[in-house]
Formats: sequence, structure tokens, C-alpha cells
Amino acid sequence: MKQQIILGIETSCDETAVAIVKDGREILSNVVSSQIESHKRFGGVVPEIASRHHVEQLTIVLEEALQQAGVTFKEIDAIAVTEGPGLVGALLIGVNAAKAISFSQSIPLVGVHHIAGHIYANRFISEFTFPLLTLVVSGGHTELVLMKEHGSFEVIGETRDDAAGEAYDKVARTLDLPYPGGPHIDRLAQTGQPSINLPRAWLEPDSYDFSFSGLKSAVINTLHNAKQRGEEIKPEDLAASFQESVIEVLVTKTKRAAKNYGVKQVLLAGGVAANKGLRSQLVEAFKDETGVELVIPPLSLCTDNAAMIAAAGSVSFAKGKTSPLDLNANPGLPLTSF
Ligand code: KG4
Ligand code: ZN
Repeated sequence: MKQQIILGIETSCDETAVAIVKDGREILSNVVSSQIESHKRFGGVVPEIASRHHVEQLTIVLEEALQQAGVTFKEIDAIAVTEGPGLVGALLIGVNAAKAISFSQSIPLVGVHHIAGHIYANRFISEFTFPLLTLVVSGGHTELVLMKEHGSFEVIGETRDDAAGEAYDKVARTLDLPYPGGPHIDRLAQTGQPSINLPRAWLEPDSYDFSFSGLKSAVINTLHNAKQRGEEIKPEDLAASFQESVIEVLVTKTKRAAKNYGVKQVLLAGGVAANKGLRSQLVEAFKDETGVELVIPPLSLCTDNAAMIAAAGSVSFAKGKTSPLDLNANPGLPLTSF
């Protein structure tokens, strides 16, 4: 069978990324230019700055990705680009670059949902066996997604308020930790004791939904109350307690859903998948579950990258799903099957 080469482009937030992927599962190059340093002093991503960085970086990153993979435009079968969700101005840079290459080089265009990309990052580690369940935990999303076949996504649970990563970043800010706060809380949590009592939002007994805003407020209140009383709270203990609460709910609901839906694989996806505590507790939770394979990508494939976009685009393209040249960035794009 002829090999399939996909060029992936990702610019939905603060990473400018281009990758070349062969047959949906082999990374030929995966170049990521992070802007975190530029946003740090503002305590979060500034959309206008993000767009400007993407404009400056995209051509450089593209050339680097082509060179590292040793391929030219002539060998590329399709261009997969994140069309949403994300920051509209940031998405537009990638979408317009993809459209320009598609038009000038006559290469088919494939719009990809960012979360479909995060899920497909797992396919670099292990071939999918269906049905499978993915725990998606990123800065903007917390979802349990059931897949019965390639390109089919059923969201069986999602956050009703903050995403897990958002809660991490907000709690980190109250502890005066730099942006993005997730990795800092994770690091602190390793050295602290989960000695502070914080709530767990289980919601209705049969619900696979999540809620993290109550927990976030509880952390903030705990800090404020302690300050007023002149008591000292160890930041590492608060981080450990917060992390324990988040992970306990995520892992328990994932395990219950995996059992109830009889899945053969459980995948982990999104930036928060880089969390050491979450990774080790998922391994622990599934170690005795025979017949369920737990797949956890390496850190470089958990955070935003373009290989994952190419991987999802590869399947979409193989199914004959391409996008017209009037493809637009859609910041609120829902996750639909392809
Ligand atoms: O998937 P991602 O790179 O961007 C979005 O699509 O949102 O996720 C970024 C999020 C941020 O909220 C960041 O704080 C969080 O992932 N994150 C972590 C860790 N590494 C990144 N959260 C907890 N522990 C980590 N080690
Ligand atoms: Zn992401």
C-alpha cells in the first residue's frame, strides 16, 4: 500500500507547531516553538501576543519540520490543521497558512478538532483497540470520551465549570507560582502532605461529569482564612491536598466508566496528562484490570504539538473527509465524529 504523509499544523494557543507524520503512526518530525516565556509575566496567555508569535514563528517551524523529516511539499498527501477550539486569532494563523500551502501546492486540506488531536497522540504509543475510553484533561477541557471506532467520539462526561488545567493554573496563581501553574503545583505536591481537607465533587452517583470550581474556591478560602488567623499553611501541603482531590475524582470516574462501557483501552490526553501524580495513580488503578490496556503518552505528546493533529488528520483523510478552502477558524468548535 502507498505510504501516506501528512503535514500537521497547530496554533490554537501558545505553541506554534508543525509535524510530519507517516501512515498516521510514525513521527518523521515534530517541531514545537513555545511562547510560554512571553506570556509568563502577564500570568496567562495574551491572545494578541500569541497571534503575533505564531506569525513570526510559523514559517521557521514549518521549514524546520520539512527539513528534519527530509520531505518536500510534493511528497505530502494532505495538510491537517487545528480549526478549533482555541483562541480565534491564534487559530487563524495556522488555518490561513494551511490554506495557502493547500492552494499553492494543490494538496488537500483537513480541518482537525484540537481534542481529537490530543486523543490521537496516543496512537503513536499503541494501536487503538475499540471500544476505548479517553480521559481528556487540558487547559480548556476535562472530558471522558468513548470511541467505538476510528473517528467516532461520544462525550460521556465533561466539566460543568472549570477544566482541570484551568483549576491548576488558578490555584497556582493564588500561591504566587508562575504561569502555567500546573507543573509547579505538580512539583510542589510531590514534597507535601495531603493533610488539608478539601472537597471532592462527585455530583450525582451515576454522573461522569466533573466540577472543579468548588475545589478551586475551597483552596482560595483555606488560604485567606489562614492568613486572617495568622496561621501558616505550607504551600506544598496545599498543593498536595488539591492535587489529591483532583486526581481522586478523575481516576475514580475513569475507572467506573471503563468498567461500565467494557472498554479494551483507556487513554490519557491533554496537557494535564503530564501530571506525575495523575499518571502514577492511573497506573495503580488499572494494574489489576486484566483486559484493559492503559496508554499514557510521553510528556512531549501530552502538551500541544502538531504530530497529534497530523495523526487525527490522517484518519480523517483516509476516510475521505477533506475541508474546503473556505475553512474558517472556529474557537467554539464542538467535538463531532468524522
Ligand atoms: O493541552 P494543553 O497543552 O493546552 C490546552 O489545550 O489547553 O494543556 C495546558 C494545561 C495548562 O493548564 C497547564 O497548567 C496544564 O496543562 N499542565 C499541567 C501539568 N503540565 C501542564 N497540569 C498539572 N500537572 C502538570 N504536570
Ligand atoms: Zn491542547
